[in-house]
Amino acid sequence: MPKNTTQYVCQQCGAATPKWQGQCPQCGTWNSLVETAVMPAKGRSASGRSVKTPIKLSQIKGKTLARIKTGIGELDRVLGGGIVPGSVILLAGEPGIGKSTLITQLCLKLEGSDPSSLYVCGEESPEQIKMRIDRLKGSELSKSSEPAHLSFLPETDTDSAIASVVNLTPAPTLIIVDSIQTMYTADLTGMAGSVGQIRESAYRWQRLAKEQGLTVILVGHVTKEGAIAGPKVLEHLVDTVLYLEGDKNHQFRILRSQKNRFGSVDEVGVFLMTDKGLTEVANPSDVFLEERQTNVAGSAVAVVMEGTRPMLVEIQALVIPSQLAIPRRVASGIDMRRLQLLVAVLSKRLKLPLGTYDVYVNVAGGLNLKEPAADLAVCLAIASSFRNKAVGPKTAVFGEVGLLGEVRRVGFADKRIKEAKKLGYPQIISPATVKNLSTLLK
Ligand code: TYD
Ligand code: MG
Repeated sequence: MPKNTTQYVCQQCGAATPKWQGQCPQCGTWNSLVETAVMPAKGRSASGRSVKTPIKLSQIKGKTLARIKTGIGELDRVLGGGIVPGSVILLAGEPGIGKSTLITQLCLKLEGSDPSSLYVCGEESPEQIKMRIDRLKGSELSKSSEPAHLSFLPETDTDSAIASVVNLTPAPTLIIVDSIQTMYTADLTGMAGSVGQIRESAYRWQRLAKEQGLTVILVGHVTKEGAIAGPKVLEHLVDTVLYLEGDKNHQFRILRSQKNRFGSVDEVGVFLMTDKGLTEVANPSDVFLEERQTNVAGSAVAVVMEGTRPMLVEIQALVIPSQLAIPRRVASGIDMRRLQLLVAVLSKRLKLPLGTYDVYVNVAGGLNLKEPAADLAVCLAIASSFRNKAVGPKTAVFGEVGLLGEVRRVGFADKRIKEAKKLGYPQIISPATVKNLSTLLK
């Protein structure tokens, strides 16, 4: 009988079975078995263990990592100053958010400085990418003549693609795999896009990068529901994980670094998706506040941090009498549970009768706030709408709100205040100026 070359390994307990099963026979978890290639035990000593001599610290040659500047300032910022040669980067995001656009712009930008990028396109044909390049021409990020050092490899078989790369002389400096979900290896029986295939293909690309010193960017789709089955399983394998986020109905795109072996994970890059690709946004607050109407009840300006950057965003609230037995709470851009909590605090501490009102809260511009520092602005906007009284037009707000109605300190207060003043919001309501909601909203 031929020896099994794959087995199914439980992601929870590590138990292996030769055949796929819906439930792990060992720990009983459902849908946790993932097809995995069995590595041949070559090059091992007689006892089954390969013997290596440890290397002394003094013997390790220190390499100076000359980073490749991408020429896209916001991308360089997130990467910590550019791409580290020989690293593996995962660029993840929802389908259609602009990953391929960013990568294509990167290829075009790199043209002048660093030749030879190879675009392994499993998703689109080279013709389709050419059409995108034509569209991007003339955009700020991709000013360059006809790309001469960019080549394409339409391939979805990981092993053939890797063999083609190894065969190339000179080797390409940068390899882009768009997307890892389309790649498969014939060594596994699962379909392309299955967890086993994604992991195995990514592992093989990673090995190529480390063995040949090539830089590889893996593009991976994440869906809201299935985040775990996608690029999440690759995060430990790669050096850097970048997430491109945004709301498809808005132009804003934020590039975050989730993990970076060669830089800080605090930085974010801000882009606008235009008809000519992604353009960098140097001062996001300007764009977020561009359409703000002053002297209208239900609007407050929050100072939030995105990475190490302070940003001013408008929080809008609408409070209207409810026709329903259970009134509506609708949050867009902030966490729903956070909104419910703040509404409860306002009802209890300020005696606002919100139990009979619908409350809608929206962060203008499509930004998704994860920081509790926006709490105070949310409360202010809700109270402003309820009382039909506008917040001062030159007022910026930040601070976390506790269950007792107390206003709590948040990080980077100085930075926030400086940014607000710089942008023409000299009146600042912060934990330093107000200790409790009840004093602020008497
Ligand atoms: P794309 O980069 O193909 O997304 P992903 O690779 O993440 O799936 O971007 C797709 C969307 O971006 C598509 O809806 C069209 C839009 N787009 C623009 O608005 N302007 C442009 O210049 C380009 C190239 C795309
Ligand atoms: Mg794409």
